[in-house]
Amino acid sequence: MKRAEILQYANQDQHEGLSPKYDPEVIIFKTPQTVDDYAATQAIEQIQADPSSVLILPTGNTPVGMYQRIVRSHRYGIVDLSQAITFNLDEYHPMPKADLNSYASYMRRNLFDHVSVSAWNIPDGEAPDPEAEAGRFQQLLDRFQPVDLAILGIGPGTTCHLGFNEKGSPVDSGVRHVALDPQTIAENSKLFDNPEEIPGAALTLGIADILQAKRIILLAKGRSKAWGINRALRGSVSSEAPASFLRLHPNVTFALDQDAGEYLRHFKSTTYK
Ligand code: PGA
Repeated sequence: MKRAEILQYANQDQHEGLSPKYDPEVIIFKTPQTVDDYAATQAIEQIQADPSSVLILPTGNTPVGMYQRIVRSHRYGIVDLSQAITFNLDEYHPMPKADLNSYASYMRRNLFDHVSVSAWNIPDGEAPDPEAEAGRFQQLLDRFQPVDLAILGIGPGTTCHLGFNEKGSPVDSGVRHVALDPQTIAENSKLFDNPEEIPGAALTLGIADILQAKRIILLAKGRSKAWGINRALRGSVSSEAPASFLRLHPNVTFALDQDAGEYLRHFKSTTYK
């Protein structure tokens, strides 16, 4: 989507809800592993078609299997990522890069220790001034828009977040410093040795940054995502459920396992694989 189009939506009443424009493609896979296969294949085919592709990448539990498959394909020489450029969706702030819980160290562990790319970019959790860091990251990303492919997860419970765009995130939001939703903190703190150490804030790409990508794939697995997926696809398109904004974009695929797609049996654009 063009930025100007996104800004037009921003002038409408986002709280009441915008008119959805498209039904995303919804694919429900038999197992979580086949979601991983699909996601990795889409990323690999994108790089094969254009080796200097620009990607937006997620962190979290959901994409770990996708990264394993991309690393394996790289080892077998099936894909060469050396010219690709990547941007991550988000990073906690404050967060030392070397901390095991940082998304910088997640990305090293899962991808960049094994595969080299032309450049990988993650908001700097160590930046002394997070607002200035958001501005720097926005400028950098804007130089590479429109991104070829954005791969996303969705937040837990009723958050419906994309990146760390929690409830209330406007459609025209850009890179910024945000407070995390209590549900996000409760869920993500389980990954910290000391759950109290989770930062309450983060740097995230905005909804408008995500919507400018040419193609978007949202991955979700497990029952804890079923409510949010259903809300995003069937509820109002509004900042109450940031993932619902994906229904303004013409080229979106929701790739789900059966648990995440539990409520979508009769959804019109669902196919099963
Ligand atoms: P998860 O996180 O993959 O760990 O569920 C996704 C998200 O919060 O966006």
